[in-house]
Amino acid sequence: MKNIQMVDLQSQYSQLKTEIDRRILSTIESAAFIHGPEVTSFEAGLSKYLGDAHVISVANGTDALQIALMALDLQPGDEVIVPSFTFVASVEVIALLGLKPIVVDVDDRTYMMKLENIVDSLSPRTRAIIPVHLFGQCVNMKALMASRKHEISLSSKTTRNL
Ligand SMILES: Cc1ncc(COP(=O)(O)O)c(C=O)c1O
Repeated sequence: MKNIQMVDLQSQYSQLKTEIDRRILSTIESAAFIHGPEVTSFEAGLSKYLGDAHVISVANGTDALQIALMALDLQPGDEVIVPSFTFVASVEVIALLGLKPIVVDVDDRTYMMKLENIVDSLSPRTRAIIPVHLFGQCVNMKALMASRKHEISLSSKTTRNL
């Protein structure tokens, strides 16, 4: 029986090895590590792919979440709704900024946040929701946005179904 790994970085790398090796080598040779041509070209390509003019690349997902929350000018104790099934970074950045994570349960079939649980968790101190999309399953952003009862800010890595 063949073991199927949850994340198979080796296999992903082997499929793109030539391109990855070439681009890493050229970055090292140019020594343009911070906002060099590779970063500019990546941001331009992603902007085109997403159809969004505003793309800022960062070092990792944790930084992306933290920066997105910092941009919202939240106050200590403000509540941020987050799913119970996620990577630790989702809650870590909330705590790091002195905010209060409000953890909501997920759907037992899709493992995505349940809309009714989000609605039940809204309070006057709710300031943001972090919808987490994992394993090809996506939170239904249309339904989530449509169900807003409070003036809250939404932060997500990507968007689609609940
Ligand atoms: C849902 C989710 N959010 C945030 C992160 C953090 O990303 P990074 O490890 O790039 O900091 C991960 C990483 O696996 C993740 O799965």
